[in-house]
Amino acid sequence: MPEILPNWHPAVVHFAVALPLLTFLFFIAASVRHRTGWAPALTTAARWSLCLGTVAALAAVLTGQGAMTTSTMDLAGHENVHIHLTWAYRTAAVLAVASLGAWLDRKRAVGAHPLLLLCVAGGMGLVAITGWYGAENVYRHGIGVQRLPDPAALDDHQGHAHHHHHDHDDPASPNGDPEADHRH
Ligand code: HEM
Repeated sequence: MPEILPNWHPAVVHFAVALPLLTFLFFIAASVRHRTGWAPALTTAARWSLCLGTVAALAAVLTGQGAMTTSTMDLAGHENVHIHLTWAYRTAAVLAVASLGAWLDRKRAVGAHPLLLLCVAGGMGLVAITGWYGAENVYRHGIGVQRLPDPAALDDHQGHAHHHHHDHDDPASPNGDPEADHRH
């Protein structure tokens, strides 16, 4: 595992978010453009996106279990992870049902059965909610983060640069090479 990753979860979740969204867009495009030569290809793209998106969601659920047991978190973070995983299970279940539906609907040349489209739209909405709470795990609760910014170190650095800058204007300072004043 690359050193930057806390676990494999962040490497798979973005596929689980993007592919269901693409599925919906491809099915809608196939229906809107159903008279064109593009429509069958768009339908095939939608089915593949749904299948791969479902696999990605299942991989996210599996890697999420690992993330939950190995990441450091406080009480607020832990509560958020639990909300996140509840939505994740709903998401994975709806996507699995949608995939099954797409298989049953496979004889259709173009577009999707209205119930399948509803299922895909639901899966897309659910993955958005799951991803929202997932992002909160990281950006609000700092789970999986290696280090936090240290603003004091930046202040020190800027104070240092500032000091050098003023040396130019200081008549008391021996006026040597101005570039030298910028050297740290
Ligand atoms: C459909 C399934 C899932 C999706 C789409 C998903 C999505 C996400 C996203 C988008 C993030 C933020 C990652 C980042 O900003 O790089 C995240 C983080 C996280 N998720 Fe999930 N997640 C899923 C399932 C789960 C499950 C089932 C669990 C726990 C059992 C879980 C636990 C975590 C934890 C602990 C983090 C914090 C980052 C880390 O330690 O890797 N996730 N998730």
